[in-house]
Amino acid sequence: MPLVSAKEMLVKAHEGHYAVGQFNINNLEWTKEVLLAAQEMKSPVILGVSEGAGKYMTGYKTVVAMVSAMVDSLGIDVPVALHLDHGSYEGAKACIEAGFSSIMFDGSHYPFAENLAKSKEIIEICHAKNLSVECEVGSIGGEEDGVIGNGEVADPKECQIIADLGVDMLAAGIGNIHGKYPANWTGLNFEVLAQIQDITNGKPLVLHGGSGIPADQIAKAISLGVSKINVNTELQLEFAAATRTYVEAGKDKTGKGYDPRKLLAPGSSAIRSKVIAMMTEFGSVNKA
Ligand code: 13P
Repeated sequence: MPLVSAKEMLVKAHEGHYAVGQFNINNLEWTKEVLLAAQEMKSPVILGVSEGAGKYMTGYKTVVAMVSAMVDSLGIDVPVALHLDHGSYEGAKACIEAGFSSIMFDGSHYPFAENLAKSKEIIEICHAKNLSVECEVGSIGGEEDGVIGNGEVADPKECQIIADLGVDMLAAGIGNIHGKYPANWTGLNFEVLAQIQDITNGKPLVLHGGSGIPADQIAKAISLGVSKINVNTELQLEFAAATRTYVEAGKDKTGKGYDPRKLLAPGSSAIRSKVIAMMTEFGSVNKA
């Protein structure tokens, strides 16, 4: 199945009161495990690629070629969207050119008028090519690949203006943070989330910073219109922990345990298990 826009899967998720996971990929192992988890769970999936990860994988064209070929070679027949995560204006244009099926333009760090003008332009270009688009209002806290957000809570009026541009999904800061949540985190702001959903007339909303949010808050966010949840850190932590266990047990020094296909196997299977658990939590199992 060719890569698809995320629009249809998110409209279905919104109507069906569940969320589709965006799992960020870093390399071949990440991509393979997320795709195999989606296939096993019969779940739609969004593969997220930050600009830093795109650069790490040698460029957006490599990413498109790898993901497309892997979907084909593995016989993946659930819907897969390849989505630029927190794209700059230039990055968005480069990914549209390279063949991504979905784009996030993050103009939340610009003055609102500039965010609006640039979002409008990117939405028009994407829709002319049948790609889905995500835009952001009120930056997400924490740091991701050098993009630092102050953790603002979005202004619902600004959300309405961006929603009215026809964006397919809207990311709005509601107290969520990229990376590990600090011990004194006060949780998601459901009051603002409800206002945003109301004022945007049921636009599918995106919850960034999906790692480490308690299950009851995830369920409540979905009930208030969140249809896409982004996960990156959690898979990195699982991969690192499983790899650490393997090395600390001295398995890389036993036989051919140093072979990368063996060394990376525990971390890879930890990624797959975590993705399966999160798809189950988000309710997207059997929704392909
Ligand atoms: P985490 O790394 O906190 O899971 O956030 C991922 C994310 O929001 C990607 O846009």
